[in-house]
Amino acid sequence: MVAKRSATFSGFSRRRTIVAIGSATLAPWAAAARRPNRLKPQPGDILVHAFGEAAGKPIGIAEVSAEPAAAFPMEPATKLVRDGSLHNQLTLVRILHSALSAKAARFAVVDGDHAFLAFSAACTHTGCEVNGWNAEAKRMVCPCHGSEFDVADAAKVVNGPAQKPLAMLEVAIHEGLFQVTGGFSRRVGPEPL
Ligand code: FES
Repeated sequence: MVAKRSATFSGFSRRRTIVAIGSATLAPWAAAARRPNRLKPQPGDILVHAFGEAAGKPIGIAEVSAEPAAAFPMEPATKLVRDGSLHNQLTLVRILHSALSAKAARFAVVDGDHAFLAFSAACTHTGCEVNGWNAEAKRMVCPCHGSEFDVADAAKVVNGPAQKPLAMLEVAIHEGLFQVTGGFSRRVGPEPL
């Protein structure tokens, strides 16, 4: 098989691995998990740039073009960016509306001929940050073990070892910005061991 070229898209400079948190005996960790910046995206949150000089600034639809954009949700009233967990990191992708599968279309927000989708950046294999982009095939690529996800087909796995698609988040366009309107399509990140 010929390896597809992929690139790390804008704003990504860090690779992180999800840390499982969940034991009732780890009270300090449990408390940390409840911190507002670790809370999962909430309806009404606005998506902001995750990294770089524009970090924390709202992402306008014109800023998501051929290259995806890394995002975190932000509570608009307090400007609190929920950047405390890779589970909250998102990848905004623009794609031709006509290219979407029916499943992807249910989570897409449409603007003219184009549609936008917000995918979780947490890999469903072992939880690395999915930060690669194959522009030709419109696939998100995980740098850890090479899994590839087809964004037009709801992040379906087209190259393992991941078995499950990336989660999609319900968003809408509000006054030219991306706003969270619901929850994720599936569990974020890998299944528990
Ligand atoms: Fe993504 Fe293994 S963690 S392919």
